[in-house]
Amino acid sequence: MKLVTCCSFKGGAGKTTSLMGLCSAWASDGRKVALFEADENRPLTRWKANAVENETWDGSCEVFIADDLTHLEAAYNEATEEGFDYGLADTHGGSSDLNNTIIASSDFLLIPTMLTPLDIDEALATYRYILELLVGEAIDVPTAILQQRIPVGRLTASQKAASDMLGVLPEFESPMHERDAFAAMKNRGLLHKTLQHMEGNPAQRLPMRNYLTAMNEVKIMGSFIDAALGE
Ligand SMILES: Nc1ncnc2c1ncn2[C@@H]1O[C@H](COP(=O)(O)OP(=O)(O)OP(=O)(O)O)[C@@H](O)[C@H]1O
Ligand SMILES: [Mg+2]
Repeated sequence: MKLVTCCSFKGGAGKTTSLMGLCSAWASDGRKVALFEADENRPLTRWKANAVENETWDGSCEVFIADDLTHLEAAYNEATEEGFDYGLADTHGGSSDLNNTIIASSDFLLIPTMLTPLDIDEALATYRYILELLVGEAIDVPTAILQQRIPVGRLTASQKAASDMLGVLPEFESPMHERDAFAAMKNRGLLHKTLQHMEGNPAQRLPMRNYLTAMNEVKIMGSFIDAALGE
């Protein structure tokens, strides 16, 4: 099982939404995805409950509570034994032994960030924190910045400058845009399952295009990580 973790010190950077998107991308390809819930607010548990209710959950995914080291270890072992292809860990903000353990055990780290000066500062601080931790442990984990909630239209001059500055760090080749389909995921469930429900419903034709574009975007993210993992 490959463990992929979303990290950011800043709240609301788009960690959970990125993970939900990646989960949909890999599950739509028939891969088994274990979601490790290390955020005590339990957004993934709520996501699953909403999805089950909407019949948009995918049986190849499972949420494991991992909000302390004991639960994390048990969840990781269980998911490995059950043959999950990917583990996706949703961390809580800030530094903690739990976050450090997850980071050091990951096969790929992604740091989502929006393009405001404050968000960029926090993303850089998170990147530095991760680097120091990995260097201290003498391990190497590929780490990349994901530009998240990027406007679909033209960027402002300051957003463009922020985006150019991030370009000096390892980055996802394409961003995750601000889309209704992504904002709605937490209530509607897995993206590919929601799309299946929309197909064949003429009233959903226009929103469905937004969902198809969103699905394509998360699939590109998934392929980027697969390439980094040598999958
Ligand atoms: N690409 C996107 N397009 C539209 N809305 C988005 C996108 N990404 C995130 N959001 C919205 O932004 C808000 C914050 O996102 P999210 O919960 O993923 O951040 P987070 O980093 O997990 O936050 P927290 O620190 O509270 O765990 C949510 O309401 C989410 O729906
Ligand atoms: Mg979150």
